[in-house]
Amino acid sequence: MKIFHVDASAKRERSNSRALSRQFIENLRREGVDVEVDYLDVTVDTPPHVTEAFAIATYHQEHERTDEMRATLTASDALCKRLLEADALVFAMPMYNWSMPSAFKAFIDSVTRPGITYKNENGNIVGQLNRQKVLFITTRGADLRPGNVFSSMDALTPALRAAFGFIGVSAPRFVDAQPLQFSDQQARNEALKRAHTELADVAADWAASELARVGSVEAETA
Ligand SMILES: Cc1cc2nc3c(=O)[nH]c(=O)nc-3n(C[C@H](O)[C@H](O)[C@H](O)COP(=O)(O)O)c2cc1C
Repeated sequence: MKIFHVDASAKRERSNSRALSRQFIENLRREGVDVEVDYLDVTVDTPPHVTEAFAIATYHQEHERTDEMRATLTASDALCKRLLEADALVFAMPMYNWSMPSAFKAFIDSVTRPGITYKNENGNIVGQLNRQKVLFITTRGADLRPGNVFSSMDALTPALRAAFGFIGVSAPRFVDAQPLQFSDQQARNEALKRAHTELADVAADWAASELARVGSVEAETA
């Protein structure tokens, strides 16, 4: 199973989202899945922000593009290829100011590409990432679960659902670890424990369908 694993926290060793995403990959391996990881740290290899040249080039059809336009789109083309070649996508990020880290927004701007990750078929938008399993692991300082004072402030989950829904991701899984900062130690420990349990559940689900898929391919070729 080829996984495109993307981390987006500004923190490194101290980052909870990075630790949780590593844990998830480990869980999958422990479940017996043969995992191949394509890794991207968007805080190190940050996709370029949208420029005027990109905004023009992306909406030209492939056959209309100049060499300069093609060069402008090269990095974005490569990122789209990595997404489309993966069987599963694991995106880990903290909430920053109620939404996503800007480096991850730059990633979304790079991979939302007409003619590549979505196509217009007779006026209908058809997202191309419809075979990939997708997991978002988010970490939040506050507790935004229903009933809490900040629950109406979650601009992260809807933004991720919309952006990835547009390019074909219809049923993403979310594991939101919260509260991890603006709370006492006991609440933080409980939040991490909940996240670990939820990640183990997602890994078990993914492993069950992947092992069944591999089994049926092997049976066909036997
Ligand atoms: C610049 C910045 C902005 C933040 N904004 C929010 C926020 O709007 N809501 C929230 O709940 N937590 C916020 N936090 C807290 C982080 O989301 C939280 O500490 C998270 O666990 C960090 O994940 P990490 O350990 O992977 O870096 C913010 C943290 C930083 C550094």
